[in-house]
Amino acid sequence: MKIGVAKETFAGETRVALTPEVVKKLVAKGFEVVVESGAGAAACFPDADYQTAGALVADSESVYASEVLVKVRKPSGAEIARLGAGAVLIGLIELCEDDGTLKALHEKGVKVMAMERIPRISRAQSMDVLSSQSNIAGYRAVLEAAGLYGRFFPLMMTSAGSAKPVRLVVLGAGVAGLQAIATARRLGAEVWAYDVRPETREQIESLGAKPIVLDIGESGSGEGGYAKELSAEAKAKQQQLLADELAKAHVIITTALIPCRPAPVLITEEVVQRMREGSVIVDLAAATGGNCPLTEKDKVVVKHGIRLVGHTNYPAMVPSDASSFYAGNIKNLLEIMVEDTGAGLSLKDFSTDEITAAMQIQPGS
Ligand SMILES: NC(=O)c1ccc[n+]([C@@H]2O[C@H](COP(=O)([O-])OP(=O)(O)OC[C@H]3O[C@@H](n4cnc5c(N)ncnc54)[C@H](O)[C@@H]3O)[C@@H](O)[C@H]2O)c1
Repeated sequence: MKIGVAKETFAGETRVALTPEVVKKLVAKGFEVVVESGAGAAACFPDADYQTAGALVADSESVYASEVLVKVRKPSGAEIARLGAGAVLIGLIELCEDDGTLKALHEKGVKVMAMERIPRISRAQSMDVLSSQSNIAGYRAVLEAAGLYGRFFPLMMTSAGSAKPVRLVVLGAGVAGLQAIATARRLGAEVWAYDVRPETREQIESLGAKPIVLDIGESGSGEGGYAKELSAEAKAKQQQLLADELAKAHVIITTALIPCRPAPVLITEEVVQRMREGSVIVDLAAATGGNCPLTEKDKVVVKHGIRLVGHTNYPAMVPSDASSFYAGNIKNLLEIMVEDTGAGLSLKDFSTDEITAAMQIQPGS
């Protein structure tokens, strides 16, 4: 079976769906891999390394003619035009953005396997790209904040004087939030964290941070490890109770997410006005409107003396490791998608496995 690895064309995307190391493992398992020339260049994986790993490096036409095409980002209109009927596309399709991509893919007869639909179950953990990439985002967001903050993160005692540790608050203690806590602790920050799901408290404490506990009158725990949307009353109470904690913070890393919904507003303009001049807010939810309404997507802006950072693709700032994790997830997925029939590898019926069944996006669904 031939797996095509496309070069990403989305602006600012530096990741690649398969790395030479993973290609080598797939070739050993009987897959044929064809890589678009230059696909790994931005992640520091040259064509020659793919060839050494056993892949064929070819032009885009040959790659898009593969039985299975693997990508990081959803395809552009021009890329969809290159796909053939019956091809299987695996990648992040960004299903919550209704921009016609899915309809165009279905009209071409492409079988769409959305990586964001991998269920959050133990068996699928090794395939979960949302987690592997959010982990990187949480780490990189803290480094971004440390670079923009005009003071130290750790307690510093020198003969020239001493500096207090930064007071850092993480909002949303999911994958990105927990990694942000761990990274900030490693840099010596004093960390507080808040999540609407009460079960996160123990995880926050286990990383050496202090949980912020608010009584908002309801639990935010939803299905599948995600939060549910709060009632209007609970949202107002949450903003009000968080305000004093946030106004004291010098750095806020905010990651609160409800799948396919606008990001909940947790940091109001009034809170930003109360924060100390020079403080930093890194808003990982910028792509879905931001946890702070002052955040601007893909920009760093200064408002009321506070730097607000709205980058939407932190994994692309750590391209080699982000690609390695993504590729590892894809390899684990490919292994459950195929069977050896004796005459080589062939695709299984996707409806027979709960993971592939959840990922396949049927026309009209
Ligand atoms: N900017 C980037 O480069 C980048 C990269 C990866 C992920 N992200 C974004 O980071 C965010 C977090 O991703 P994740 O994978 O960690 O998601 P996740 O689902 O693991 O975590 C989100 C957390 O937010 C919490 N939450 C939801 N509503 C809340 C509220 N009202 N108050 C407090 N907490 C609340 C949830 O309980 C959950 O623990 C998402 O918005 C995601 O799109 C951004």
